[in-house]
Amino acid sequence: MITSIASNPDFETLLDYLKQKCGCDLTFYKRDSLMRRFERRMQDLKIDNYTNYLQYLQGHTEEYTSLLDTILINFSGFFRNRDCWDYLASTIIPQIINNKKPQEKIRVWSAGCAYGQEVYTLLMLLVEALGIEQYLQRVQIFATVVDSAALKLARKGSYSQDEVVGIPIELLSKYFEKNEKRYIFDSKLRSTIVFGRHNLAVDAPMSKIDLLMCRNVLIYFHFKTQAAVFVRFHFAITDKGFLFLGNAENSTNKKIFIPVSLKHRIFAKGEKLTLEDHLLIRTQTSRTKVLDPLNIQVFVWQRAFEKSPFAQLAINLKGCLILANDQANALFSLTDGDLGAKLQNLQIGQIIKSSTLLKQLWDEHRALYLQNIEWVTEIGITYLDIHIKPVFNASGKLLGANLTFVDITHYKQPA
Ligand SMILES: C[S@@+](CC[C@H](N)C(=O)[O-])C[C@H]1O[C@@H](n2cnc3c(N)ncnc32)[C@H](O)[C@@H]1O
Repeated sequence: MITSIASNPDFETLLDYLKQKCGCDLTFYKRDSLMRRFERRMQDLKIDNYTNYLQYLQGHTEEYTSLLDTILINFSGFFRNRDCWDYLASTIIPQIINNKKPQEKIRVWSAGCAYGQEVYTLLMLLVEALGIEQYLQRVQIFATVVDSAALKLARKGSYSQDEVVGIPIELLSKYFEKNEKRYIFDSKLRSTIVFGRHNLAVDAPMSKIDLLMCRNVLIYFHFKTQAAVFVRFHFAITDKGFLFLGNAENSTNKKIFIPVSLKHRIFAKGEKLTLEDHLLIRTQTSRTKVLDPLNIQVFVWQRAFEKSPFAQLAINLKGCLILANDQANALFSLTDGDLGAKLQNLQIGQIIKSSTLLKQLWDEHRALYLQNIEWVTEIGITYLDIHIKPVFNASGKLLGANLTFVDITHYKQPA
């Protein structure tokens, strides 16, 4: 039996294998609890050391899914820590609504959503607060988690009798349909949630979020990763927005998030981010590099692209997405998983025919300007001006294109 949680070379080899061969980087989780969770899985299989477990993993590819399930702890529940949800419903949601103009969008993000209980709980509270019509017109909900298997189940919104125990009876009958054995969340409302795979430790955050829930997730990350995630959350949340953490969690940076109610784990944005904070979210940058002017220049350029007020993206010559900034991610519901995908297979393909576009760029070698493009979605009509610039290398070879989207919808609406 493994008793020591001190650094263990066999364990490091195992982690390295998972990172290299399975693309699963577990190095940002707290090492001691990570080892305990591996140990739990190994006990189930009656394997008593990491080397043997590595061999087992190599011979049984399906084991990877079971391992992830043990490691990621997709435990959740409806109205978990009920007093926090009551506070959210009575105090925070009304503030979010009051801070907005009557037709303004409200954007919420459940990060680390497990099987979806948390995001459906929030959805019910938002419908209760706004009414169904306002909800459908104004609310955008994102629910993300790193585990694809959990994500699939969250999308389905199907729960057993035991799982729905925490839901007040009037909400259960209003929002769920019961078939023989299971309770299924209302399909129309379910389709308003944008579900996506997202790794909090490495992926870029959403933007313009009014309420970000990330509960019982960060406790598993080691301190440095937690600190970087809080910086990303600071980017993600609007100035008047809120962060909702789990009962055992607290912001690692006491300045950038300040408690609104510590008891209910609700925080607001505090001080602005410093350059050090920005650099924290760049991978393992040392302090000497931080002060290198070239490094800062590249960093500023990168941040300017990411934080541009306009949605921007870049495509390669095959019409595949290679870069998207925060605004583009939000506008077209893109996640990192979409990188490399053909534009025509993404939501944005509804308005940009990339093959025609690239042919034109290739033939004409000049910028294109598409004006007043109408984009009809479930939530309404958006009008966009689209600037498309060819990108060349130093010897004039076309590499791809940069696309900038300017939302002109508000100019079209009567005053
Ligand atoms: C204990 S559950 C919490 C679920 C829910 N937030 C709640 O409090 O009821 C932890 C969740 O975090 C997810 N998770 C773990 N590491 C993650 C990561 N790096 N990025 C995103 N989600 C992660 C797990 O898959 C799991 O769904």
